[in-house]
Amino acid sequence: MQYLDNSALIQKYNIPGPRYTSYPTVPFWDNNTMKLGSWEESVKKSFSQSNTSEGISLYIHMPYCESLCTFCACHKHITKQHSVEDAYIDAVLKEWKLYVDLLDEEPSIAEIHLGGGTPTFFSSENLSRMIEGIFKHATRHKTFDFSFEAHPNETTKKQMQTLFDLGFNRTSFGIQDYNPTVQKAINRIQTYETVQNINTISRDIGYNSISHDIIFGLPHQTKESIQDTIEKTVSLKPDRIAYYSYAHVPWIKGVGQRGFDENDLPQDAYKRELYELGKKLFFEAGYEEIGMDHFSLPTDKLSIAMKEKKLHRNFMGYTAGKTKLMIGLGMSSISDSWYAFAQNEKRVEDYIDRVNEGKLPVFRGHLLSDEDLIVRKHILNLMCNLNTSWEDNSMKLSHMPQILERLEEMDADNLIEIYDNSLVVKESSRMFVRNVCMAFDLRLAENQPEGKIFSMTI
Ligand SMILES: C[S@@+](CC[C@H](N)C(=O)[O-])C[C@H]1O[C@@H](n2cnc3c(N)ncnc32)[C@H](O)[C@@H]1O
Ligand code: SF4
Repeated sequence: MQYLDNSALIQKYNIPGPRYTSYPTVPFWDNNTMKLGSWEESVKKSFSQSNTSEGISLYIHMPYCESLCTFCACHKHITKQHSVEDAYIDAVLKEWKLYVDLLDEEPSIAEIHLGGGTPTFFSSENLSRMIEGIFKHATRHKTFDFSFEAHPNETTKKQMQTLFDLGFNRTSFGIQDYNPTVQKAINRIQTYETVQNINTISRDIGYNSISHDIIFGLPHQTKESIQDTIEKTVSLKPDRIAYYSYAHVPWIKGVGQRGFDENDLPQDAYKRELYELGKKLFFEAGYEEIGMDHFSLPTDKLSIAMKEKKLHRNFMGYTAGKTKLMIGLGMSSISDSWYAFAQNEKRVEDYIDRVNEGKLPVFRGHLLSDEDLIVRKHILNLMCNLNTSWEDNSMKLSHMPQILERLEEMDADNLIEIYDNSLVVKESSRMFVRNVCMAFDLRLAENQPEGKIFSMTI
């Protein structure tokens, strides 16, 4: 049998597909399965099963940014008016109190992640007020791990010190690319010196896990330009590097991807070469590949979790810790009780109004069926460990014959190895893991989407 070469495989398998930060993926949530009451019940159930052992996680979405980066697919709100901060923090604290009132004991918080938008848009005083307000009704779990996203242009020493004093030890900086032509096209002018400065400040303060976000596939990127960006990045020795594939999703309302021509974007095979080049340079600098788009130093928790098969994936991407209950606070945040998902209002005004009415600001969600829960575990196994097994009765699905049928072509193309009751994605086929997950995605198989909803898989 003659196998397809890499570029033919990329051409064949580069199709629109989910990034599997959840299962079911958000477009396939069945909102009819969930009313606010059932969401609250699932939170209570998950809390009672996990609070005293592993604790819970909080994700707090902080949506404001001072200017729009034209590649960005995050839920953000652009403003230079810092007067918006107070009302937003008030709403987050009120929302937290609504959750606390549901629970029958004090929450023990194992993880906090501040995401955005730009959490460091907020002043040190407001960041303090928010975290102290959270802990008026909670304790720290003995293994706590607190992190936040920071924009190098908008982060001060005072903010870094304040968050460190509040227990934060991990931060991620949005770098994206250092090339001036690329930076101009994405409307994000940010010098190496600015990044170096905040990186050094963070190390001096005591942060022991620093991550840098880089994107491949941005307009005007070339192998030479990405090599320069990566060399600058590894010279600062971040503990982790997120090497994201640019998700081009201009059809999503409010995303604001503009300012460059689609012809300026590196196309399929070239885009993949940018990834392969990055991977080679990260390996040479001593990093290990984690899951689909992360690299970390062997000393970092992410590498350790991967080796111990404890890697987890959630709405924030790959994480070393896993709690059954993750409460998402703030506009657009997604909460996960393991048995259900719930998303908050996506417009900041709607979010604040709902909270001020004394209601949880959830506008959609999904209650997982028994079948969803099994598929969820298979997809997590594949995304985190590149293999899965249905040997155990609890992992069996009645649709297994159809799933195996969908995997036949990938098997024939030598991307995976199928055994009696398990499958392994070959190390060399890591880039196709989203396609393998799609074979298990029963909701997608039942209901092929009309129109564009996902970015490309490769
Ligand atoms: C909320 S931002 C990071 C914090 C801060 N706002 C900043 O820009 O520095 C989270 C990360 O998502 C990634 N991201 C945003 N839009 C993306 C897209 N369209 N494709 C791939 N990654 C994207 C970027 O790497 C970005 O650093
Ligand atoms: S990349 Fe960061 S700073 Fe830029 S618009 Fe997105 S969230 Fe805001």
